[in-house]
Amino acid sequence: MKNKIVACLIFALLPLGVQAQEATTKTFWDDPVNHPMTPFYLVIALVAIVTILILVVAIMLLNVLNMFVRKAAEERAAKLGIPYVPEPSWWQKLDRKLTDAVPLEKEETVLLDHNYDGIKELDNHLPPWWKWLFYGTIGWSAVYLVVYHITDSMPLSDQEYQNEVAVASEKLNKLRASQPVAAIDEAGLTYTADEALILKGKSIYISNCASCHKNAGEGGIGPNLTDEFWIHGGGIKNIYATVKNGVPEKGMISWKPILKPEEMRDVAYYILSIQGTNPPNAKAPQGTIWKEEKAAPADSTQAVKPATASL
Ligand code: HEC
Repeated sequence: MKNKIVACLIFALLPLGVQAQEATTKTFWDDPVNHPMTPFYLVIALVAIVTILILVVAIMLLNVLNMFVRKAAEERAAKLGIPYVPEPSWWQKLDRKLTDAVPLEKEETVLLDHNYDGIKELDNHLPPWWKWLFYGTIGWSAVYLVVYHITDSMPLSDQEYQNEVAVASEKLNKLRASQPVAAIDEAGLTYTADEALILKGKSIYISNCASCHKNAGEGGIGPNLTDEFWIHGGGIKNIYATVKNGVPEKGMISWKPILKPEEMRDVAYYILSIQGTNPPNAKAPQGTIWKEEKAAPADSTQAVKPATASL
């Protein structure tokens, strides 16, 4: 009865927990002391501890009781002058019921007549626990068929996935709508050695770009970003445009769908901040020397999109 009440409590409060978690992005482990569900969890833990204690005491009492019952039975057997045969415990009874194995002393009744180098075979029944499980799976398959394929009352895994994607993209849209991205004036973009922005750009660079351009910008799969040679033009506008549009045919993706405009600007600031740092193991120069006055990119086949392109 007590357990039922606890179960009801848990089921009644579960949706509360789910809502509370959705409302706050903090999980329980971020701040266990102030989490709204903490009192509830404490009550559950307390109930669990008390239940375990009650069970332990009950088992101990039962053992003592058993001892008295056995003593009495032994005395009765001694008085009647018959040998004492202990009653099988509930566990032994259950084990017998579940396995239906023929006891050792009666094994000859199920012994088959073949014998391979002393290895003999017993013709025991299939264990009932196994058979019940098997019948259970047959029953389950019928329920499954009706629920998932005939009445379509529950979604199949594929549909479940689609539903989750739909819910997630709705959330994403809401989040995007609540955080409009700041537009960057690409045409008027100028380089400012703002330390805070350059630091931000550096962390964006390390996590997104260093795999190809290497940590110090010395170049690897991608070109050296610290020298004055540029394939697609140097200067803040060209670098911003290269990062934004990428050079997909050469293996550099467009970062527009991944980075916010201000993040692309910050990473471009960072690249300009490491100009001329001359890191070790620098990759050989690619492209041509960039001079700020020169408007067109060096390689005319790799035309840079106009810096005024909309975001
Ligand atoms: C998968 C590898 C890869 C990643 C990741 C990558 N790049 Fe590149 N990047 C390249 C390649 C390859 C080129 C050369 C393209 C060409 O040859 O035209 C390039 C070119 C560039 C250029 C132009 C260089 C020039 O000489 O004109 C810039 C600027 C640049 N990358 C910045 C970035 C930034 C910023 C990031 C991170 C947001 C980044 N790259 C991430 C591979 C990569």
